[in-house]
Amino acid sequence: MLPKRGSLILCGTFLFVTWNAILVLLLWGRPPPGEPGKPAGEHKGVGEKPTNDVVGDVLRMADTFEAELEMQKQILLQIQNHQSLWEPPNRDRPKVVVPRQPAIPILVIACNRVTVRRCLDKLLQHRPSAELYPIIVSQDCGHAETADVIRSYGDQVTHLKQPDLSDIAVQPQHKKFQGYYKISRHYRWALNQVFKTLSHSSVVIVEDDLEVAPDFFEYFRALLPLLKSDPSLWCVSAWNDNGREGYVDPGKANLLYRTDFFPGLGWMLLKEVWEELEPKWPTSFWDDWMRQPEQRRNRACIRPEISRTLTFGRQGVSLGQFYDKYLRYIKLNAEFVPFTKLDLSYLKEETYRKVFEKEVYSAPVVKYEDVKQGQLKGPGPFRLQYSSKDSFKILAKNLGIMDDLKSGVPRTGYNGVVSFISRGQRIYLAPPPGWTQYDSTWS
Ligand code: UD1
Ligand code: MN
Repeated sequence: MLPKRGSLILCGTFLFVTWNAILVLLLWGRPPPGEPGKPAGEHKGVGEKPTNDVVGDVLRMADTFEAELEMQKQILLQIQNHQSLWEPPNRDRPKVVVPRQPAIPILVIACNRVTVRRCLDKLLQHRPSAELYPIIVSQDCGHAETADVIRSYGDQVTHLKQPDLSDIAVQPQHKKFQGYYKISRHYRWALNQVFKTLSHSSVVIVEDDLEVAPDFFEYFRALLPLLKSDPSLWCVSAWNDNGREGYVDPGKANLLYRTDFFPGLGWMLLKEVWEELEPKWPTSFWDDWMRQPEQRRNRACIRPEISRTLTFGRQGVSLGQFYDKYLRYIKLNAEFVPFTKLDLSYLKEETYRKVFEKEVYSAPVVKYEDVKQGQLKGPGPFRLQYSSKDSFKILAKNLGIMDDLKSGVPRTGYNGVVSFISRGQRIYLAPPPGWTQYDSTWS
């Protein structure tokens, strides 16, 4: 409404000025008032210059102009003063349609790998707004070359340096795990910077060997309201532990899940959860510590069908134990999904649990051999049952999904169920109906 109204007024003003200009020109070309036919000069008072005085004519015309312009100025001023009359109805309406959104900082955990460049390049390539997604690179390890790389990004990123580079005293048999202790120390320091020093209310943590997908930012932006409003959630992760090519549905890039397994690897955390974890933050193996029941407290994370991060860090602290077998094959989503425009209410706990259970337990039970040999009949999905830690591990291993459990929870598991694709069919690897809780002795 406002632009239309504004342009109307502009248009009116323009017409008014033009009309007056024409008037002035007419006045200028006309003889001054008096007896028709008589030269203007004859009406001059005593002492005035004769009418054929060109200078006098010009001066008079200038006076006419001046008076005319003064009048126009007064009218324009009046229009301006009356702006308040046509502005109020617009005042209630928001002028900018975009609602105010909080910044979601991206915390990049770096150490001594110059390949952090790949991570930063992708973040900057896909970042829709510098204000909404400030990038904070926190560097541990004091590695000069890596520091140079980070510095080369100038003010596109904030470069923090973890100040305590000392070795950490550990028990002799943990000497080889020194790296995990340093990572834990670094995480605590960096997250305190984000939440306490910089006062952010949420963060997305990215390690220096992760590459992000085009809709990475869109994904986290869309899930922030759900994470904030649902206390049964404690993270949103970009990672699918079983997200290898062939194990995900390429046509379901928009599909999201709840999972009881903390995936990490590109994940969003809220200030409140950090305040809860920080006082008891562990000295090492922070991610497995997060997976313990005392920390997780039955809370779930959101994870995608197709990963929004990919890891390229074969050389890392864990010496690539999983890298060559699984991690390097995780498929990175390529298609942009407009998550902020989708209805994500199906992820709310109550709704999700009911729909998921119905979907899984109404699926026909099949035998491992049928899955393996591609003998499944019907459209799917299908349910493959496991009833012990060993049967889970054997089935998982043979079907090519991750077979490890942390605190009894299988990777990507939700209520014990692991969802994946095998030979183009949706399979739910599931415990018997009536499942109630994880057995943390399963590992
Ligand atoms: C694995 C996990 C990682 C987790 C880590 C700690 C995977 C693929 N990776 O690390 O998510 O954080 O275990 O349990 O599951 N770093 C430091 N200081 C150091 C050494 C490393 O800050 O002294 C940083 C690195 O820059 C990196 C992160 O810690 O951002 C993980 O290090 P990395 O070498 O990649 O170890 P992973 O084996 O992948
Ligand atoms: Mn790594």
